[in-house]
Amino acid sequence: MDYFTTTSNAAKRATDCVIVGVYERGKLSAGARDIDVASNGELRRLVKSGDLSSKPGRCILLTNLAGVKATRVAVVGLGKSGELSTRTFCRAVAAAIASVSESKCSDVLNTLTLEAVGDASVYYLARQTVQSIGDMLYRFTQMKSERKNSSMPLRKVGLSVASRGDASNATLGAEHGDAIVEGMSLAKDLGNLPPNVCTPTYLARAAQKLAKGNGKLTTRIINESDMKRLGMHSLLSVTAGTNEPAKLIVMQYRNGGKSKPIVLVGKGVTFDSGGISLKPGPAMDEMKYDMCGAAGVIGTMATVAALKLPVNLNVVVPAVENLPGSKATVPGDIVKSMSGQTIEILNTDAEGRLILCDALTYSRRFRPDTIIDVATLTGACVIALGHHHTGVMSYDDSLADEIVSAGVNASDRAWRLPLSDEYSEQLKSNFADFANVGGRDGGAITAGCFLGKFTDDLKWAHLDIAGTAWRSGQKKGATGRPVPLLSEFVLSRCNALP
Ligand code: BES
Ligand code: MN
Ligand code: ZN
Repeated sequence: MDYFTTTSNAAKRATDCVIVGVYERGKLSAGARDIDVASNGELRRLVKSGDLSSKPGRCILLTNLAGVKATRVAVVGLGKSGELSTRTFCRAVAAAIASVSESKCSDVLNTLTLEAVGDASVYYLARQTVQSIGDMLYRFTQMKSERKNSSMPLRKVGLSVASRGDASNATLGAEHGDAIVEGMSLAKDLGNLPPNVCTPTYLARAAQKLAKGNGKLTTRIINESDMKRLGMHSLLSVTAGTNEPAKLIVMQYRNGGKSKPIVLVGKGVTFDSGGISLKPGPAMDEMKYDMCGAAGVIGTMATVAALKLPVNLNVVVPAVENLPGSKATVPGDIVKSMSGQTIEILNTDAEGRLILCDALTYSRRFRPDTIIDVATLTGACVIALGHHHTGVMSYDDSLADEIVSAGVNASDRAWRLPLSDEYSEQLKSNFADFANVGGRDGGAITAGCFLGKFTDDLKWAHLDIAGTAWRSGQKKGATGRPVPLLSEFVLSRCNALP
């Protein structure tokens, strides 16, 4: 995608579509005022006649306005004047793109970047514009026999700015937004692929493909025999029931000199049937999304590599399929993890923590500055937070705060859950060091506590994305979250934000 910034009058740009806005009571956005003046008061007339809606998410498309160079003007609703939020801003851009997506638009100009949107800077408005467009235009057509070529050849995004100083920040925001879209699209593709295609082996190949031709990025794949040698019996217990070979994917991006790396660990269960503790049938297909943690961290790696950020970043993905079978692990089995701690597996459906704990132990060798694991870990997190916030758990207050703020800035929000000792007690086992489940109550937190037993002395946080990684129902599909949050976290760590 190409970008340009412009300080010129919205009516004077020869573009396929100019996006302008109207607030409640007919107040026009800055770009809309330009269009109104150039068209001899046409927008005000339409406001008076009630033909322009100020409702957020609404969009009216006007074509061939006299005095206006652009072919189309998309007038979007912005709600109450003075209360424009980032969310309404994104909805407005998305609505405009949705209404022109059938037409042959190859470039658009967003003038809404001139508006006051909460306390968001022009950098974030530019980035959000590009992200909203990327999100709106994303299609998953790989598995359709009749592949329609993209009906919308959008290639150029313009951003109106008030000054030259704003222009450089907007350009940076667009560039970052574009790389985040790239990472999100990869994460969405990996998530949406069916489980018979997106196996652990497929994930490993995707990670290798990303490293190909990039001198700063290497991918190494650890196979089951090496896992045995390393003592990863917890991870191996999950893959016991399937014929698909498990893989531990290790990616290393080195562009931060001698600094300690940030390590991202992503749950890569390519299908979670529950194993012997079989899940109920309804919506079981959605357990193809149980590798969205992996997709999120690999997607973030794609973003970071695209931007050539000055940072050392490692990604570790334990990838397995969780199936029942005659060789499968059964409830009551006790395994020894790579850390040496023994685990009584009381429920084979609590498999995410069993693969993550060995991946976390393995990651110690990188002497991480910070380690964050990302997982569709518990249904309980969906009950606690719904589909809007990712769950964050950490023993480190400043790291938890840093992650929550990154989520706010990136409009990919997360909310902290407590990890106090009482919850840990729910994991007590009569036979092993601890059990892999702690009962229904506080299920997201006891899962976090379980992981915490493997991160002693590490600056660690856990993200439970079970509610945020994909949508169900008619709009079923991966969201690409938490790529924006993690990208923001890394951008902020290497001082790449304005
Ligand atoms: N992958 C699931 C969690 C999940 C379930 C995410 C539904 C999104 C929607 C995980 O492996 C799992 O099965 N967790 C169990 C844990 C329980 C057995 C302690 C759960 O949440 O039911
Ligand atoms: Mn499970
Ligand atoms: Zn799972």
